[in-house]
Amino acid sequence: MATHQYLGGQPDEALDRVDGRQKVTGAAKYSVDDILPGLTYAVLVESTIAKGHIKKIDTKKAQSAPGVLAIIYHGNAPAIPGYETGGNPAKPPTGGEPFRVFQNTQIYFAGQPIAIVIADTYERAIYAATLVETEYNKDDQRTDIEGNKDKAVVPKGPRYADYIRGEADAYKNSVIKIEAEYIIPVEVHNPMELHATTAFWDGEDKVTVFDKTQGVKSTQRSIMDAFKLKEQNVQVNTDFVGGGFGSGLRTWPHVIAAVLAAKKINKPVKLVLTRPQMFTMVGYRPYSWQKISLGATRDGVLTGLTHEAISETSTYEEFTDRTVDISKVMYACPNVNTRYKIVALDKSTPTWMRGPGEATGAYALECAIDELSYAVNLDPLELRIRNHADVDPVRNLPWSSKYLKECYQKGAEAIGWNKRNPKPNSMQEGEWQLGYGMGAGNFNANRGRATVKATLLADGSLVLQSAVSDSGPGTATTMTSIASNVFGLSPGKITFELGDSSLPPGPTQGGSTTTSTLGSAVHDVCVALQQKMAELVTIQGSLLQGAKPENLHFEKGYITLKTDASKKVAYADVVKQTGSSQLEVTKDSQAGDERNKYSIYSFAVHFVQVQVHRLTGVVRIKKVVTVADAGKIINEKTAASQLMGGVVSGIGMALMEDAVMDHRFGRYVNNNLADYHVPVSADVPDIKALFIDKPDPFINPIGSKGLGEIANVGFAAAVANAVYHATGKRIRTLPITPDKLL
Ligand code: MOS
Repeated sequence: MATHQYLGGQPDEALDRVDGRQKVTGAAKYSVDDILPGLTYAVLVESTIAKGHIKKIDTKKAQSAPGVLAIIYHGNAPAIPGYETGGNPAKPPTGGEPFRVFQNTQIYFAGQPIAIVIADTYERAIYAATLVETEYNKDDQRTDIEGNKDKAVVPKGPRYADYIRGEADAYKNSVIKIEAEYIIPVEVHNPMELHATTAFWDGEDKVTVFDKTQGVKSTQRSIMDAFKLKEQNVQVNTDFVGGGFGSGLRTWPHVIAAVLAAKKINKPVKLVLTRPQMFTMVGYRPYSWQKISLGATRDGVLTGLTHEAISETSTYEEFTDRTVDISKVMYACPNVNTRYKIVALDKSTPTWMRGPGEATGAYALECAIDELSYAVNLDPLELRIRNHADVDPVRNLPWSSKYLKECYQKGAEAIGWNKRNPKPNSMQEGEWQLGYGMGAGNFNANRGRATVKATLLADGSLVLQSAVSDSGPGTATTMTSIASNVFGLSPGKITFELGDSSLPPGPTQGGSTTTSTLGSAVHDVCVALQQKMAELVTIQGSLLQGAKPENLHFEKGYITLKTDASKKVAYADVVKQTGSSQLEVTKDSQAGDERNKYSIYSFAVHFVQVQVHRLTGVVRIKKVVTVADAGKIINEKTAASQLMGGVVSGIGMALMEDAVMDHRFGRYVNNNLADYHVPVSADVPDIKALFIDKPDPFINPIGSKGLGEIANVGFAAAVANAVYHATGKRIRTLPITPDKLL
């Protein structure tokens, strides 16, 4: 269990990260850091072919290598009674079954784990793994979406059916028409921290697992299901997570493999994926082809919008995301239709990656809107305002809150939008062409369910607990801020405990919902604890005897009367009064029916200034302004970090990231961080992260909407649009590398 407590002095308004000191001093423990007595090391052997069957695995040589304790493969793997069937909340919702590791001879993708070698040291395990000999019956694989689009199908489930509002393909009859195709290649999450799992069993039916996961409860559930174990007998810990971006939203086969290996040798086993394995074993953003067709009047009023997308999945699971959904709700257009299809390929299953669906769709939509702005000779900002959706056009419901127009205005001012010459290829700085671009986005602001336990101790300090993972946004910090404000206690007296599946159930950290979900539960439990304290403090013999609970005021660790601050009872004394050492309240909290009455979204806009080098085609991002309407901002520092992180990943998406597969073999050729480029500090300019910071009155008691995903929804489009403005060249295939500009 990770303990996160503010160790600073009296905080200024935005609390410093409560665990910042742990992170920068190396005290923070990540999954790979757990060293247990008698620890052994596991290494996965992978398939070198993309499709076919294993004819034979010969482990004799490997088995007799020094230090080898066991080798598990399909020929000797113990049964996994339940495997990942049923109840796994992170399982793709629409179809297929998770890959079952070591259960049969079938090969679904190159890089598929086919054996696990366990040895007494890591080096010996690596060496022995090279001695495992495999023969295959190889079939021809299909890994390229281009050329296989005719095999695309509409995913099962009503939400993927073709959507039509008004008339389909109405753009065809419009005065102004834009039709353009966009491609985003495979992107891989590549968090700095590799996925790692350490597992050990206590007897036949109890297991403890240290795992890199965005959800300790969902990983616990997957292991319970796979090994048919009771909840209290599966302990999952994730103290700190070194980035996830979606790769930790599912329980992947390597986790099951590590748990299985630990069972087989009855010792603690540690398995750390290699960087190349991070490309094939923990998901990726799927390749997508998109076509946007826009129809408009000469004044730039949208009359038709058609959004088509084809994406990829594996042959064993149906992965889907909301690629086309943003086109349904982003603008007020009477005629909208969308078509979304997927092709099953001989690859591992993709998964959600930051801004899943929306980030992909917004790239196409927001580029096309920019293209339209030139066709109707209108400022792209003005074009967006003209087509602003005043209500949710899909459900015809009011927004719970929407300050997108305010975002536009604030961002335009901060970047100096009106100083640009609107003509493409018109602004120069020596050998550099200068350009400005913008892109906007939205994301569902959901709220899930969470339980938080609050314990007030005899020294007046407060401990909050919930089984949530923090993949980096600073969950314990924001929760401490909320508790400090609601409960009336200085942050230094509050400790937040997380990352432990035995704590009260918390949500998986995904879909930009943690602050909304968990923050609401923290709010509710603090209020409930105050109510309990109010009962105790108003009874006979107390200084505040007879006071009405509603007349009490809670601040800085003391209860007073609202009308009279002189009668003070310390929180600590309320505990002492009970005669026990602590006061406990546990509260379960979830959304009400507000979603039936309102559409609840977060919004953001990104403004970018770029330089493009005339001779080399190098693109430099010079300035970024990102403005978010994410409701009430709990902590300006951690919130700004969310936006900055989104911008950095957006820069990667726009200019660098591209997992290149050699389709002759179905294998990646750049599966390492030397060849798969992500932004480094020199690629990242000063980023201005701004907020509207107005509470949403309906989403939850704290007024906060989600922030993580919108941070990069629409960002890549802003870059592409700025590159067009700088050069007059429209690049519709990401990433925008110099070769495409020359
Ligand atoms: Mo996010 S893609 O829900 O980790």
